[in-house]
Amino acid sequence: MGAGPAGLVLAHLLHLKGIDSVVLESQSREYLEHRVRAGVLEQGTADLLDAIGVGDRLRREGLVHEGIELQFEGERHRIDFPSLTGGRRITVYGQQEVVKDLIAARLETERPLLFEVTDVAVGGFESDSPTIRFGHEGEKIELRCDFIAGCDGSHGVCRESIPEGALTVFEREYPFAWLGILAAAPPSNDELIYAYHERGFALHSMRSPTVTRLYLQVRPDEDLDEWPDERIWDELERRLGLEGWTLNNGEITEKGVTGMRSFVVEPMQCGRMFLAGDSAHIVPPTGAKGLNLAVADVRVLAEGLAAWFENGDGSALERYSADVLRRVWRAEHFSWFMTSMLHRLEDGDAFDVKLQLAQLSYVCSSERAAASLAENYVGLEHV
Ligand code: FAD
Ligand code: PHB
Repeated sequence: MGAGPAGLVLAHLLHLKGIDSVVLESQSREYLEHRVRAGVLEQGTADLLDAIGVGDRLRREGLVHEGIELQFEGERHRIDFPSLTGGRRITVYGQQEVVKDLIAARLETERPLLFEVTDVAVGGFESDSPTIRFGHEGEKIELRCDFIAGCDGSHGVCRESIPEGALTVFEREYPFAWLGILAAAPPSNDELIYAYHERGFALHSMRSPTVTRLYLQVRPDEDLDEWPDERIWDELERRLGLEGWTLNNGEITEKGVTGMRSFVVEPMQCGRMFLAGDSAHIVPPTGAKGLNLAVADVRVLAEGLAAWFENGDGSALERYSADVLRRVWRAEHFSWFMTSMLHRLEDGDAFDVKLQLAQLSYVCSSERAAASLAENYVGLEHV
């Protein structure tokens, strides 16, 4: 269920192992290929996409970055990834481009991928043959499955269909959100800049040599109508600006407000239905982990399903939830850590500010602290 990064990567991994699947998606192909979301791929994510044959455009158009900059008290400090992590890097490549490449690869396999399905209902996952009922092009269809992979994101039906009491929810809301824009302007810096500022956090990112992606910390209930383009540029300039450096402006082509939340359900399984990606866990975007975690989940799930189909061995599937939750909680912690260190807390006092600045200067002056941030950012190989 779901043709986001989790569902599409899983379907492709299964295809490569000769296992059939049907991918069901409630949105249109057009919508999925233009939905602006994450942009940072860990080394392991980019390597996996390459290994499964969907990395050609990513290797051509993706921007390989060897570090990020942390800005506070009017100075920038660079965290160098290769020297701190044994040569690892990240690739900046938009999620909708990853999704485009995966949809094209799926269609090429001629295995089913149905867009704009309606009235989806899942059931029977505690039996040997769970079912999915849905509508497609005016027809009502019932699929009898061996397994259901709930890759239908944070508002999907799979998690919601699990009986109350079977899952434990862990969550935290943050008292702020991000106002994000895409602008037709060349990036103003070669690398991402995470800026801590008394007016709130700001992030300089990018999508290509001609497109900049920028974010501002705002209130969770922020009204976009109060943010005409000029106000956005002024605020970005205030928070990111340094003497001798200017922020390139350009036409704003996309604008949106994203809430910030940490959320995990345990276990990520109910009978023959397995949850993967955002359907089971959400991270605030500060650590750039959401998409990467979704891919890491289905990599493990595909191995478990392959062992089951190839030799009837269900032990890896039984361990699925416990195995992936170790990485999930590491990423939850890292995302919370980056979020807490970099955002102005509305009810924070001078003591909080001093703690944040102490943490920032530690991370930027101690090689060991920098290495810890760097290894989490590029993605841990073994968790
Ligand atoms: P999704 O990409 O959400 O895919 C789930 C799919 O299931 C969707 O296509 C949905 O349409 C489909 N679906 C839902 N319900 C049904 C149904 N009933 N039947 C069929 N299909 C269904 N992460 C970062 O790391 N950095 C960021 O900057 C960042 N920005 C984000 C901005 C926004 C607005 C959002 C919502 C998320 C952002 N994320 C970001 C998180 C990141 O995009 C997600 O972690 C990632 O998309 C997870 O992939 P997924 O496949 O699990 O879920
Ligand atoms: C992005 O480019 O959209 C992006 C980059 C880094 C983040 C979050 C989002 O931490």
